[in-house]
Amino acid sequence: MCGIVAAVTKRNIINFLLQSIKKLEYRGYDSSGLAVINKNSDIVRIRCVGKVNVLSKKVKKKKLFGNIGFAHTRWATHGKISKENTHPHISSNIVVVHNGIIENSSKLRILLEKKGYTFNSDTDTEVIAHLLHLEQSKKGLSLLKTVQKSILQLNGNYSMVVMDAKNASKLIAVRSGSPLVIGLGIKENFIASDQIALLSSTKRFIYLEEGDIAIVKAKKVNIFNKDGVIIERDEIKSNVKYKSVSKGKYKHYMEKEIYEQPLSIQKTLNNRIKEDKTIHFSELSPKEENLFLKAEHIQIVACGTSYHAALVSKYWFESLADIPCDVEIASEFSSRKLAIRKNSFFITLSQSGETADTLEALRISKKLGYLGNLTICNMKGSSLVKESDCCLSTEAGIEIGVASTKSFTAQLTVLLMLITKIMHLKRKNIMIAKKIVKSLHYLPSKIKKIFKKNTLIEKVANNLYRKKNILFLGRGSQYPIALEGALKVKEISYIHAEAYPSGELKHGPLALIDKNMPVIIIAPNDSLIEKTKKSIQEISAREGKIYVLSDKEVNLENNINFIKIPYIEEIIAPILYIVPLQLFSYYIALKKGKNIDQPRNLAKSVTVE
Ligand code: AGP
Repeated sequence: MCGIVAAVTKRNIINFLLQSIKKLEYRGYDSSGLAVINKNSDIVRIRCVGKVNVLSKKVKKKKLFGNIGFAHTRWATHGKISKENTHPHISSNIVVVHNGIIENSSKLRILLEKKGYTFNSDTDTEVIAHLLHLEQSKKGLSLLKTVQKSILQLNGNYSMVVMDAKNASKLIAVRSGSPLVIGLGIKENFIASDQIALLSSTKRFIYLEEGDIAIVKAKKVNIFNKDGVIIERDEIKSNVKYKSVSKGKYKHYMEKEIYEQPLSIQKTLNNRIKEDKTIHFSELSPKEENLFLKAEHIQIVACGTSYHAALVSKYWFESLADIPCDVEIASEFSSRKLAIRKNSFFITLSQSGETADTLEALRISKKLGYLGNLTICNMKGSSLVKESDCCLSTEAGIEIGVASTKSFTAQLTVLLMLITKIMHLKRKNIMIAKKIVKSLHYLPSKIKKIFKKNTLIEKVANNLYRKKNILFLGRGSQYPIALEGALKVKEISYIHAEAYPSGELKHGPLALIDKNMPVIIIAPNDSLIEKTKKSIQEISAREGKIYVLSDKEVNLENNINFIKIPYIEEIIAPILYIVPLQLFSYYIALKKGKNIDQPRNLAKSVTVE
C-alpha cells in the first residue's frame, strides 16, 4: 500500500528521497510524488502516474534543492489513478502525505467546500490538507496543535506526515492505525512507513505507537502519546542488513526468496528443538502453554497465503493434536455474527503483521471470550504482534516480493512445531512427534533437491505460459497447497488459475477438462494416492494435459507429465510440495515478461480493509 519517506536535514534531500522511496516500491503502488520546501519557503511538488523511475527523471531535470520534504507512493483508494490524485496534497502552506483511509472524508469535504475550499483531487488526503489549513488559520495555532485538533475530526486507520511552508524546520508524523517509523541520524532525522526505506542512512529507529504524534526536527524528536502527553519511546538498533534487502545475484526478489527457503526454515527451527527432540518456544510462558492444554477448539484467521498456511494446519491440529480447528478468511470473520466454541483459542497468521483485515478480526475476537490469542508473524514490531497476547515469530527475514514464498514455508514450520509441542504437552502421539522433528530437520536439504529440478520446472512453465486457465488439484493437506499454487500463478502471471480438492472434480470442474486444459496434480505416494489416481484417470480419459508432482511415478496413461519430488514423511509433505509450484509460477511470469515483484494492482502489505 502507500509508502511514505520524509526527511529534515541540513543537506539537499532530493537524492535521499528518491532512493528511499524506491525501497518502498515493493509495497505496491500506481503513482508517485515528492514535495520539498526550498530556500525561498516555496513548496515544490512533482508528481506522476507510474514508477519511481519516471518520477526520478522528472525531478532530476528540475535540479531541485530542499532540506525538508517527503516522497510518496500511492496505491489508489479514493479516486482513480491520476496525477491530480497523486500525493503530496497541498492546501496553501500545508503539505500532506498519507497512508490509509479517512472514512468520513466525504462529509468533511462537503463541510470544507462550504467554507470555500476548492478541491483539485478526489482524495481523502486533500481533505486532510484543507482541514489542517482551516484549523490553523482559525486561531493561528502551532502546527502540532493544528494536527492534534484536526485529527480528532478524522475517522479511519491511517498514518500521515505534514509540513508547513511557513515553518519549514519540522515535520509532524501521526500514527493512527497504520505504522510509521522514525529514523534517527546525526543532525538529521527521517520518517518512513517501513525501516527498509531508511537503512542506507541509519540503523537507529523509534517505532511510533498507536495514537502517537511526533515533531521531527533535524536535531530533535519529540513524541506525544494519544493523550497529548510527551513521552519517551524506546530506540531500537536494527539488525536488518542493508544487503539483505537487495536482490544479490538473483533477477527478482521472488526468485531470491524462493531460494532462501532452506535457510529461512533452518532459522525458524534454530534454538527451538531441544536435545531430547522436544520443542521449546522461548516466547511462550508456561501459563500460555497451559492454555493449549485447556483449548478444546482452535480458531485461526488470516488472509491470502497466510490463510492457506492456516488451512494446512487445520489438518495437523485435528489429526495430530486432536483439537478441532476452524480456519476463516479474516474479512469474512469480521463480517458476520459469530458463535464461538467453548474454550476456544484464537490464532492469527501474517507475514507483515499489518494486514488491516486480520487486525480487525483480532480486535473483534478480543470481545468474544476466547481463552487467549496468539499471532504467528514475520515482523517483530508489527501491530499484530503488539496487539496480541503472545507471538511466535517466523524467521523468514524481510520478504520483498509481493508474492509470499519464504514466509509461507516458515509459517508452516512454526505451525507444525507448535502442534508437535501441544502433542508433547498432551502426551499424545509421542512417536509421531519425534518423527516430525526428525523430518523437520531434513526439510531444508529436501528443498535444495527440488532446486535441482528447476530446469524441468521451467520447461513445464514454458509449455504452459500461453494458457488462459490452469487447474490445480490436491487432496487432504495438499489441497491448501493447490490453492496456494493457484494463487501464486494468478497474482504474478494474471492467468486464471483455480484449485480444487481432487475428489471434488467430478462434482463440476470436470466439465472444464479438454485437451487445452492443463491440470497440475499434487499426488505424493501417500495414504491418499489410490484416491488421487482415480482423479488422474478421470482427467486423462477426457484428454486433459496432466502434470503430476509425486515421489513415485504414476504409470497410468501416456499423456501424463511427471515431476519427481524427493520422498518426505506424509505429514510434512505440504511444506515441500509448495516449492516446485512457487518455481513454476515464477517461471511462467518470467516467460510472460510480467513485473514479478510488483504485480499490477497488488500491495505487499494490505493496510486497508
Ligand atoms: C500472497 O502472495 C499475497 N501477496 C497475499 O495474499 C498475502 O498473503 C495476504 O495479503 C496476507 O498478508 P499477510 O500475511 O502479511 O497478513
